[in-house]
Amino acid sequence: MRRKLIAGNWKMNGSLAANADLLASIKAGLPGSACDVAVCAPAIYLAQAKAELSGTAIAWGGQDVSVHESGAYTGEISAAMLRDVGCRYAIVGHSERRSYHNESDEVVALKASRALASELTPIICVGELLAEREAGKTDEVVARQINAILNVLDEESLKSIVVAYEPVWAIGTGKTATPQMAQDVHALLRQRLAAKSAVAAEKVRILYGGSMKPDNAKELLSMPDIDGGLIGGASLKASDFLAIINAA
Ligand code: 13P
Repeated sequence: MRRKLIAGNWKMNGSLAANADLLASIKAGLPGSACDVAVCAPAIYLAQAKAELSGTAIAWGGQDVSVHESGAYTGEISAAMLRDVGCRYAIVGHSERRSYHNESDEVVALKASRALASELTPIICVGELLAEREAGKTDEVVARQINAILNVLDEESLKSIVVAYEPVWAIGTGKTATPQMAQDVHALLRQRLAAKSAVAAEKVRILYGGSMKPDNAKELLSMPDIDGGLIGGASLKASDFLAIINAA
């Protein structure tokens, strides 16, 4: 039985004051340890997350990681630095980075490797554009994206990843994939993982992301291959985030 993971992706939102309020409310309202919980904050606020969340059941993570190990890469944040401020997770390959920063499948795979080498759990995002879904290419696109990961990670590393299926057309739009639509893609992803390692396929958590809200979370999270959520907008409001955690 895979333990569910509810991870917030704050994206480029927050401030010292707003984060302090948000984290205090989440901590105060957090139910018992029914699922894993994490917040992925902007890098500049990860030290704050460490200060506020150390010793609690809430983990924290970065939203991206450099492909480079260290050195003259102005503005980049390395996996070792994320680890240094206590991160457990690093999101890699979010569609916003794939599209606004031209990150290829190969770059995303390299980032996942870097994260793993620093003992971070990469949350590897995949997902199709609206035009790709409408052209019947969803399976092809997500298979290509996950294959790039399978090509570079060995079986042992594969067991430590988290995958997030985020259909791009559902992100921030209020449009959610139906539970069955999401389940179909999650099953395909698990099948791809199983082709490389049956053990990893059983173990890896596949999260759904894209307008997951308190009112649709339960139904999505009840599908057999949906092992949690990667939450954008609703992770910025403590009551919504807590309601999704409760649904899990
Ligand atoms: P929304 O929940 O705002 O749609 O964002 C999803 C997402 O991109 C999480 O990474």
